[in-house]
Amino acid sequence: MIYKPNFKKAPIVSLNGEPVLLFNQQQHTLLDVLEIKKVNIFSECRNGFCGSCKTRINKGSVTYISEPLVELEADECLPCCCVPETNLDLDLTTDEPSNLYVQHNKTLITLD
Ligand code: FES
Repeated sequence: MIYKPNFKKAPIVSLNGEPVLLFNQQQHTLLDVLEIKKVNIFSECRNGFCGSCKTRINKGSVTYISEPLVELEADECLPCCCVPETNLDLDLTTDEPSNLYVQHNKTLITLD
């Protein structure tokens, strides 16, 4: 019998092709996690009303925690009210050096 674990891999979030984080933050929005990683992203309402955090998606998809009230193009998202559904590449950059954290045998490893 082959055991197939029933789990979903945590999506990797990249900024213009550079991997910056592994999204395994179940209680946070994409905006929260980008801010933790010191990504400069403008926001105001943080609830999908104003559109100030609107960001272009280069590749991948998101799912919304709450329905955005802003009109979006197919390649745009509102990080304040969504989470990555797949690996995600956003049209953003960071000033900070990125470290991708991966979990291996219950140990966090930083990839420099
Ligand atoms: S901060 Fe207002 S829509 Fe995201």
